Amino acid sequence: MSASVRSVPPAGPAAGRPVLSVAEYADRARAALAPEVWEWLEGGAERELTLAANRAAFDRVGLVPRVLTDVSTRDTAATLVRSRAALPVAVAPVAYHRLFHPEGELASARACAAAGVPFTVGTLSSVGFEELAGTGATLWFQLYWLRDRGRLLDLVRAAEEAGSEALVVTADVPYMGRRLRDARNAFALPADVRAALLEGGAAGRAHESTTAVSAVAAHTAELLSPGVTWADLEWLRGETELPLVVKGVLDPADARRAAGIGAAAVVVSNHGGRQLDRAVPAVTVLPAVAEALAGEDCQVLMDSGVRGGSDVLTALALGASGVLLGRPLIWGLAAGGEAGCTEVLDLLAAELRHALGLAGCADLRAAAELRTTTLPGTTWSTP
Ligand code: FNR
Repeated sequence: MSASVRSVPPAGPAAGRPVLSVAEYADRARAALAPEVWEWLEGGAERELTLAANRAAFDRVGLVPRVLTDVSTRDTAATLVRSRAALPVAVAPVAYHRLFHPEGELASARACAAAGVPFTVGTLSSVGFEELAGTGATLWFQLYWLRDRGRLLDLVRAAEEAGSEALVVTADVPYMGRRLRDARNAFALPADVRAALLEGGAAGRAHESTTAVSAVAAHTAELLSPGVTWADLEWLRGETELPLVVKGVLDPADARRAAGIGAAAVVVSNHGGRQLDRAVPAVTVLPAVAEALAGEDCQVLMDSGVRGGSDVLTALALGASGVLLGRPLIWGLAAGGEAGCTEVLDLLAAELRHALGLAGCADLRAAAELRTTTLPGTTWSTP
Protein backbone atom coordinates (compact mmCIF):
# COMPACT_ATOMS: atom_id res chain seq x y z
CA MET A 1 0.00 0.00 0.00
CA SER A 2 1.35 3.45 -0.85
CA ALA A 3 2.39 6.04 1.72
CA SER A 4 -0.15 8.58 0.54
CA VAL A 5 -3.00 6.11 0.95
CA ARG A 6 -1.82 5.24 4.44
CA SER A 7 -1.66 8.93 5.30
CA VAL A 8 -5.47 9.10 5.34
CA PRO A 9 -6.58 7.18 8.42
CA PRO A 10 -9.60 5.01 7.71
CA ALA A 11 -12.62 5.93 9.81
CA GLY A 12 -15.71 4.16 11.07
CA PRO A 13 -15.93 0.42 10.55
CA ALA A 14 -12.69 0.43 8.50
CA ALA A 15 -10.57 1.84 11.35
CA GLY A 16 -7.50 -0.28 11.94
CA ARG A 17 -8.29 -2.76 9.19
CA PRO A 18 -6.50 -3.12 5.86
CA VAL A 19 -8.68 -2.44 2.82
CA LEU A 20 -9.29 -5.76 1.08
CA SER A 21 -11.95 -4.85 -1.47
CA VAL A 22 -12.90 -1.97 -3.77
CA ALA A 23 -16.16 -1.49 -1.86
CA GLU A 24 -14.35 -0.89 1.43
CA TYR A 25 -12.59 2.14 -0.07
CA ALA A 26 -15.77 4.18 0.42
CA ASP A 27 -15.05 4.55 4.14
CA ARG A 28 -11.66 6.07 3.44
CA ALA A 29 -13.10 8.53 0.97
CA ARG A 30 -15.81 9.59 3.37
CA ALA A 31 -13.19 10.26 6.06
CA ALA A 32 -11.15 12.39 3.66
CA LEU A 33 -13.94 14.58 2.25
CA ALA A 34 -15.98 17.50 3.53
CA PRO A 35 -19.54 16.23 4.19
CA GLU A 36 -21.11 18.24 1.34
CA VAL A 37 -18.56 16.93 -1.18
CA TRP A 38 -19.17 13.35 -0.01
CA GLU A 39 -22.92 13.93 -0.46
CA TRP A 40 -22.38 15.36 -3.95
CA LEU A 41 -20.44 12.22 -4.84
CA GLU A 42 -22.71 9.64 -3.26
CA GLY A 43 -26.10 11.28 -3.70
CA GLY A 44 -28.75 10.43 -6.27
CA ALA A 45 -31.88 12.12 -7.53
CA GLU A 46 -35.01 12.71 -5.42
CA ARG A 47 -35.87 9.64 -3.28
CA GLU A 48 -32.75 7.83 -4.49
CA LEU A 49 -34.81 4.79 -5.50
CA THR A 50 -32.71 4.18 -8.61
CA LEU A 51 -29.47 4.72 -6.70
CA ALA A 52 -30.41 1.93 -4.26
CA ALA A 53 -31.90 -0.27 -6.98
CA ASN A 54 -28.61 -0.22 -8.92
CA ARG A 55 -26.93 -2.19 -6.14
CA ALA A 56 -29.94 -4.36 -5.34
CA ALA A 57 -30.27 -5.38 -9.00
CA PHE A 58 -26.61 -6.41 -9.24
CA ASP A 59 -26.92 -8.42 -6.06
CA ARG A 60 -29.94 -10.33 -7.38
CA VAL A 61 -28.01 -11.78 -10.33
CA GLY A 62 -26.61 -15.24 -9.73
CA LEU A 63 -23.80 -16.63 -11.88
CA VAL A 64 -23.60 -20.29 -12.85
CA PRO A 65 -19.89 -21.22 -12.75
CA ARG A 66 -18.24 -23.75 -15.10
CA VAL A 67 -15.67 -26.23 -13.78
CA LEU A 68 -12.50 -28.09 -14.87
CA THR A 69 -11.60 -25.54 -17.53
CA ASP A 70 -7.90 -24.79 -16.68
CA VAL A 71 -7.89 -21.33 -15.19
CA SER A 72 -4.18 -21.31 -14.32
CA THR A 73 -3.98 -18.06 -16.32
CA ARG A 74 -6.80 -15.57 -16.79
CA ASP A 75 -6.63 -13.05 -19.62
CA THR A 76 -8.49 -9.80 -18.95
CA ALA A 77 -7.36 -7.86 -22.05
CA ALA A 78 -10.19 -6.13 -23.90
CA THR A 79 -10.90 -3.81 -26.80
CA LEU A 80 -13.31 -1.10 -25.68
CA VAL A 81 -14.70 1.02 -28.51
CA ARG A 82 -11.43 1.17 -30.53
CA SER A 83 -9.06 1.28 -27.55
CA ARG A 84 -6.93 -1.52 -26.15
CA ALA A 85 -7.45 -1.98 -22.42
CA ALA A 86 -5.86 -4.23 -19.81
CA LEU A 87 -9.28 -4.79 -18.25
CA PRO A 88 -12.84 -4.65 -19.59
CA VAL A 89 -13.06 -1.35 -17.69
CA ALA A 90 -12.84 2.34 -18.54
CA VAL A 91 -13.16 5.16 -16.06
CA ALA A 92 -16.50 6.99 -16.29
CA PRO A 93 -16.74 10.74 -16.74
CA VAL A 94 -17.11 12.42 -13.35
CA ALA A 95 -17.16 16.21 -13.16
CA TYR A 96 -14.63 18.27 -11.23
CA HIS A 97 -12.11 15.76 -9.84
CA ARG A 98 -10.32 18.64 -8.08
CA LEU A 99 -13.21 18.66 -5.59
CA PHE A 100 -11.81 15.37 -4.31
CA HIS A 101 -8.05 15.92 -4.49
CA PRO A 102 -5.88 18.94 -5.38
CA GLU A 103 -4.37 17.12 -8.38
CA GLY A 104 -7.81 16.20 -9.68
CA GLU A 105 -8.01 14.49 -13.07
CA LEU A 106 -4.22 14.58 -13.39
CA ALA A 107 -3.93 12.03 -10.56
CA SER A 108 -6.75 9.81 -11.84
CA ALA A 109 -5.50 9.88 -15.44
CA ARG A 110 -1.96 8.95 -14.33
CA ALA A 111 -3.34 5.96 -12.44
CA CYS A 112 -5.32 4.94 -15.54
CA ALA A 113 -2.18 5.18 -17.67
CA ALA A 114 -0.37 2.83 -15.27
CA ALA A 115 -3.30 0.39 -15.11
CA GLY A 116 -3.89 0.39 -18.89
CA VAL A 117 -7.46 1.56 -18.52
CA PRO A 118 -9.07 4.31 -20.67
CA PHE A 119 -9.82 7.56 -18.83
CA THR A 120 -12.87 9.62 -19.79
CA VAL A 121 -12.27 13.36 -19.60
CA GLY A 122 -15.51 15.15 -18.76
CA THR A 123 -16.80 18.36 -20.33
CA LEU A 124 -16.68 19.53 -16.70
CA SER A 125 -13.06 18.47 -16.18
CA SER A 126 -11.17 20.61 -13.68
CA VAL A 127 -7.84 19.93 -15.44
CA GLY A 128 -7.09 20.91 -19.06
CA PHE A 129 -6.51 18.62 -22.05
CA GLU A 130 -2.84 19.44 -22.44
CA GLU A 131 -1.90 18.25 -18.97
CA LEU A 132 -4.07 15.14 -19.31
CA ALA A 133 -2.57 14.25 -22.70
CA GLY A 134 0.85 14.38 -20.99
CA THR A 135 -0.09 11.52 -18.65
CA GLY A 136 0.03 8.98 -21.48
CA ALA A 137 -3.41 7.64 -20.54
CA THR A 138 -5.79 6.48 -23.26
CA LEU A 139 -8.24 9.38 -23.28
CA TRP A 140 -11.89 9.40 -24.18
CA PHE A 141 -13.81 12.68 -24.16
CA GLN A 142 -17.31 13.05 -22.71
CA LEU A 143 -19.45 15.73 -24.32
CA TYR A 144 -22.43 17.44 -22.76
CA TRP A 145 -24.60 19.03 -25.41
CA LEU A 146 -23.84 22.74 -25.00
CA ARG A 147 -26.42 25.31 -26.09
CA ASP A 148 -23.70 27.01 -28.14
CA ARG A 149 -22.84 24.80 -31.13
CA GLY A 150 -19.65 26.73 -31.85
CA ARG A 151 -18.33 26.03 -28.35
CA LEU A 152 -19.44 22.42 -28.67
CA LEU A 153 -17.42 21.94 -31.84
CA ASP A 154 -14.44 23.74 -30.28
CA LEU A 155 -14.51 21.17 -27.47
CA VAL A 156 -14.64 18.30 -29.96
CA ARG A 157 -11.66 19.73 -31.86
CA ALA A 158 -9.72 20.19 -28.62
CA ALA A 159 -10.48 16.55 -27.71
CA GLU A 160 -9.24 15.42 -31.12
CA GLU A 161 -6.04 17.44 -30.75
CA ALA A 162 -5.44 15.93 -27.31
CA GLY A 163 -5.53 12.48 -28.90
CA SER A 164 -8.91 11.31 -27.60
CA GLU A 165 -9.85 7.90 -28.94
CA ALA A 166 -13.62 8.18 -28.43
CA LEU A 167 -16.33 10.82 -28.17
CA VAL A 168 -18.81 9.90 -25.44
CA VAL A 169 -22.01 11.93 -25.77
CA THR A 170 -24.07 11.93 -22.59
CA ALA A 171 -27.68 11.53 -23.64
CA ASP A 172 -29.47 11.36 -20.28
CA VAL A 173 -28.89 14.93 -19.11
CA PRO A 174 -31.23 17.34 -20.91
CA TYR A 175 -30.84 19.05 -17.54
CA MET A 176 -29.60 17.79 -14.22
CA GLY A 177 -31.72 15.51 -12.02
CA ARG A 178 -33.03 16.95 -8.74
CA ARG A 179 -30.37 16.01 -6.23
CA LEU A 180 -31.94 17.07 -2.98
CA ARG A 181 -28.82 16.58 -0.86
CA ASP A 182 -26.98 19.20 -2.96
CA ALA A 183 -29.92 21.62 -2.84
CA ARG A 184 -30.10 21.26 0.97
CA ASN A 185 -26.35 21.86 1.22
CA ALA A 186 -26.58 24.84 -1.20
CA PHE A 187 -23.68 23.03 -2.85
CA ALA A 188 -21.32 25.26 -4.85
CA LEU A 189 -17.82 24.87 -6.23
CA PRO A 190 -14.95 26.36 -4.22
CA ALA A 191 -13.22 29.26 -5.98
CA ASP A 192 -10.18 27.18 -6.98
CA VAL A 193 -12.16 24.43 -8.75
CA ARG A 194 -13.07 25.46 -12.28
CA ALA A 195 -14.33 23.98 -15.53
CA ALA A 196 -10.93 24.00 -17.23
CA LEU A 197 -12.20 23.12 -20.72
CA LEU A 198 -14.81 25.84 -20.94
CA GLU A 199 -14.04 29.29 -22.26
CA GLY A 200 -11.91 31.26 -19.81
CA GLY A 201 -12.06 28.38 -17.32
CA ALA A 202 -15.17 29.90 -15.75
CA ALA A 203 -17.88 27.84 -14.20
CA GLY A 204 -19.61 31.18 -13.29
CA ARG A 205 -22.89 30.24 -11.67
CA ALA A 206 -21.42 26.99 -10.25
CA HIS A 207 -19.53 29.03 -7.62
CA GLU A 208 -22.51 31.02 -6.27
CA SER A 209 -24.02 29.46 -3.17
CA THR A 210 -27.80 30.06 -2.94
CA THR A 211 -30.18 28.69 -0.29
CA ALA A 212 -31.89 25.42 -1.31
CA VAL A 213 -30.23 25.41 -4.75
CA SER A 214 -27.37 23.34 -6.15
CA ALA A 215 -25.13 25.85 -7.90
CA VAL A 216 -23.68 23.06 -10.06
CA ALA A 217 -27.19 22.20 -11.29
CA ALA A 218 -27.92 25.88 -11.96
CA HIS A 219 -24.70 26.20 -13.95
CA THR A 220 -25.44 23.15 -16.10
CA ALA A 221 -28.98 24.44 -16.75
CA GLU A 222 -27.41 27.56 -18.26
CA LEU A 223 -24.90 25.56 -20.23
CA LEU A 224 -26.75 22.51 -21.61
CA SER A 225 -29.42 22.30 -24.28
CA PRO A 226 -32.54 20.26 -23.40
CA GLY A 227 -33.51 20.45 -27.08
CA VAL A 228 -30.90 17.98 -28.35
CA THR A 229 -32.19 15.12 -30.56
CA TRP A 230 -30.94 12.14 -32.57
CA ALA A 231 -30.70 14.45 -35.58
CA ASP A 232 -28.10 16.54 -33.72
CA LEU A 233 -26.09 13.42 -32.93
CA GLU A 234 -26.23 12.41 -36.56
CA TRP A 235 -24.90 15.86 -37.50
CA LEU A 236 -22.07 15.46 -34.98
CA ARG A 237 -21.28 12.01 -36.37
CA GLY A 238 -20.51 13.72 -39.70
CA GLU A 239 -18.29 16.35 -38.07
CA THR A 240 -15.68 14.05 -36.53
CA GLU A 241 -13.77 10.87 -37.22
CA LEU A 242 -13.83 9.94 -33.54
CA PRO A 243 -15.90 6.86 -32.74
CA LEU A 244 -19.16 8.00 -31.17
CA VAL A 245 -20.38 6.49 -27.89
CA VAL A 246 -23.90 7.25 -26.67
CA LYS A 247 -24.01 7.19 -22.86
CA GLY A 248 -27.20 6.90 -20.87
CA VAL A 249 -29.25 4.52 -23.00
CA LEU A 250 -31.72 2.16 -21.26
CA ASP A 251 -34.34 1.31 -23.92
CA PRO A 252 -33.31 -1.26 -26.58
CA ALA A 253 -35.05 0.92 -29.21
CA ASP A 254 -32.72 3.80 -28.33
CA ALA A 255 -29.75 1.44 -28.54
CA ARG A 256 -30.83 0.44 -32.05
CA ARG A 257 -31.26 4.11 -32.92
CA ALA A 258 -27.70 4.79 -31.76
CA ALA A 259 -26.39 1.91 -33.89
CA GLY A 260 -28.45 3.26 -36.79
CA ILE A 261 -26.65 6.62 -36.74
CA GLY A 262 -23.28 4.86 -36.67
CA ALA A 263 -22.44 4.90 -32.96
CA ALA A 264 -19.51 2.61 -32.12
CA ALA A 265 -20.92 1.85 -28.65
CA VAL A 266 -23.70 2.60 -26.21
CA VAL A 267 -23.32 2.85 -22.46
CA VAL A 268 -26.32 1.32 -20.72
CA SER A 269 -26.54 3.63 -17.73
CA ASN A 270 -28.89 5.56 -15.47
CA HIS A 271 -26.10 7.99 -14.55
CA GLY A 272 -25.58 6.32 -11.19
CA GLY A 273 -29.14 7.12 -10.09
CA ARG A 274 -28.59 10.85 -10.46
CA GLN A 275 -31.07 11.63 -13.25
CA LEU A 276 -34.61 10.11 -13.49
CA ASP A 277 -35.42 8.63 -10.10
CA ARG A 278 -37.26 5.37 -10.84
CA ALA A 279 -35.23 4.78 -14.00
CA VAL A 280 -34.51 1.04 -14.21
CA PRO A 281 -31.14 -0.29 -13.09
CA ALA A 282 -28.82 -0.63 -16.08
CA VAL A 283 -28.07 -4.24 -15.16
CA THR A 284 -31.78 -5.12 -15.51
CA VAL A 285 -32.09 -3.97 -19.12
CA LEU A 286 -28.59 -4.97 -20.21
CA PRO A 287 -29.60 -8.36 -21.71
CA ALA A 288 -32.38 -6.75 -23.78
CA VAL A 289 -30.03 -4.05 -25.10
CA ALA A 290 -27.35 -6.65 -25.91
CA GLU A 291 -29.94 -8.70 -27.78
CA ALA A 292 -31.14 -5.65 -29.70
CA LEU A 293 -27.57 -4.94 -30.85
CA ALA A 294 -26.61 -8.54 -31.67
CA GLY A 295 -25.03 -8.55 -35.11
CA GLU A 296 -24.61 -4.73 -35.14
CA ASP A 297 -21.20 -3.09 -35.20
CA CYS A 298 -22.03 -1.33 -31.93
CA GLN A 299 -20.53 -2.39 -28.62
CA VAL A 300 -22.48 -2.54 -25.37
CA LEU A 301 -20.87 -1.00 -22.30
CA MET A 302 -22.61 -0.40 -18.97
CA ASP A 303 -22.30 1.50 -15.71
CA SER A 304 -24.28 2.32 -12.56
CA GLY A 305 -23.54 0.23 -9.50
CA VAL A 306 -20.23 -1.46 -10.40
CA ARG A 307 -18.44 -1.90 -7.08
CA GLY A 308 -16.10 -4.83 -7.62
CA GLY A 309 -14.69 -7.56 -9.83
CA SER A 310 -17.69 -9.87 -9.57
CA ASP A 311 -19.92 -7.00 -10.76
CA VAL A 312 -17.70 -6.65 -13.85
CA LEU A 313 -18.00 -10.40 -14.44
CA THR A 314 -21.79 -10.17 -14.03
CA ALA A 315 -22.00 -7.36 -16.59
CA LEU A 316 -19.97 -9.45 -19.07
CA ALA A 317 -22.21 -12.47 -18.50
CA LEU A 318 -25.28 -10.29 -19.15
CA GLY A 319 -23.98 -9.11 -22.52
CA ALA A 320 -21.68 -6.14 -21.91
CA SER A 321 -18.21 -5.93 -23.46
CA GLY A 322 -17.05 -3.77 -20.57
CA VAL A 323 -18.05 -1.40 -17.81
CA LEU A 324 -17.40 2.18 -16.80
CA LEU A 325 -16.15 2.65 -13.26
CA GLY A 326 -17.70 5.72 -11.60
CA ARG A 327 -17.77 6.44 -7.87
CA PRO A 328 -15.20 3.80 -6.75
CA LEU A 329 -12.35 5.44 -8.67
CA ILE A 330 -13.23 8.71 -6.95
CA TRP A 331 -13.08 6.97 -3.56
CA GLY A 332 -9.49 6.14 -4.38
CA LEU A 333 -8.78 9.68 -5.56
CA ALA A 334 -10.25 11.23 -2.41
CA ALA A 335 -8.44 8.83 -0.09
CA GLY A 336 -5.01 8.90 -1.67
CA GLY A 337 -4.73 10.80 -4.97
CA GLU A 338 -2.97 8.89 -7.73
CA ALA A 339 -1.87 6.09 -5.36
CA GLY A 340 -5.44 5.69 -4.10
CA CYS A 341 -6.77 5.42 -7.68
CA THR A 342 -4.05 2.90 -8.46
CA GLU A 343 -4.99 0.81 -5.46
CA VAL A 344 -8.68 0.81 -6.43
CA LEU A 345 -7.83 -0.23 -10.00
CA ASP A 346 -5.41 -2.92 -8.73
CA LEU A 347 -8.04 -4.28 -6.33
CA LEU A 348 -10.64 -4.32 -9.12
CA ALA A 349 -8.26 -6.18 -11.43
CA ALA A 350 -7.42 -8.71 -8.70
CA GLU A 351 -11.10 -9.22 -7.87
CA LEU A 352 -11.98 -9.72 -11.52
CA ARG A 353 -9.16 -12.22 -12.11
CA HIS A 354 -10.15 -14.10 -8.98
CA ALA A 355 -13.85 -14.24 -9.94
CA LEU A 356 -13.04 -15.27 -13.51
CA GLY A 357 -11.07 -18.28 -12.28
CA LEU A 358 -13.72 -19.38 -9.79
CA ALA A 359 -16.34 -19.12 -12.55
CA GLY A 360 -14.20 -21.33 -14.79
CA CYS A 361 -13.33 -18.57 -17.25
CA ALA A 362 -9.81 -18.26 -18.66
CA ASP A 363 -10.76 -15.17 -20.67
CA LEU A 364 -13.53 -12.67 -21.32
CA ARG A 365 -15.02 -14.74 -24.14
CA ALA A 366 -15.75 -17.49 -21.62
CA ALA A 367 -17.26 -14.92 -19.26
CA ALA A 368 -19.72 -13.86 -21.97
CA GLU A 369 -20.91 -17.49 -22.16
CA LEU A 370 -21.73 -17.82 -18.45
CA ARG A 371 -25.33 -18.53 -17.56
CA THR A 372 -27.06 -16.22 -15.11
CA THR A 373 -30.18 -16.45 -13.04
CA THR A 374 -32.16 -13.70 -11.35
CA LEU A 375 -32.73 -14.45 -7.70
CA PRO A 376 -36.14 -13.68 -6.18
CA GLY A 377 -36.52 -10.50 -4.15
CA THR A 378 -37.38 -6.88 -4.62
CA THR A 379 -35.29 -4.58 -6.79
CA TRP A 380 -36.69 -1.37 -5.31
CA SER A 381 -35.51 -0.66 -1.82
CA THR A 382 -34.61 2.43 0.12
CA PRO A 383 -31.29 2.58 1.98
C1 FNR B 1 -21.17 11.54 -12.62
N1 FNR B 1 -21.51 11.11 -13.90
C2 FNR B 1 -21.26 11.91 -14.97
N2 FNR B 1 -21.56 11.49 -16.24
C3 FNR B 1 -21.31 12.26 -17.31
O1 FNR B 1 -21.60 11.85 -18.43
N3 FNR B 1 -20.72 13.50 -17.15
C4 FNR B 1 -20.39 13.99 -15.93
O2 FNR B 1 -19.87 15.10 -15.81
C5 FNR B 1 -20.68 13.19 -14.80
N4 FNR B 1 -20.39 13.64 -13.54
C6 FNR B 1 -20.62 12.82 -12.45
C7 FNR B 1 -20.27 13.27 -11.17
C8 FNR B 1 -20.44 12.44 -10.07
C9 FNR B 1 -20.04 12.90 -8.71
C10 FNR B 1 -20.97 11.13 -10.26
C11 FNR B 1 -21.14 10.18 -9.09
C12 FNR B 1 -21.34 10.70 -11.51
C13 FNR B 1 -22.07 9.75 -14.10
C14 FNR B 1 -20.97 8.72 -14.29
O3 FNR B 1 -20.33 8.89 -15.53
C15 FNR B 1 -21.54 7.28 -14.23
O4 FNR B 1 -22.61 7.14 -15.13
C16 FNR B 1 -22.01 6.93 -12.82
O5 FNR B 1 -21.06 7.36 -11.87
C17 FNR B 1 -22.25 5.44 -12.68
O6 FNR B 1 -22.77 5.12 -11.42
P1 FNR B 1 -21.85 4.51 -10.23
O7 FNR B 1 -21.38 3.18 -10.67
O8 FNR B 1 -20.77 5.48 -9.97
O9 FNR B 1 -22.80 4.44 -9.07
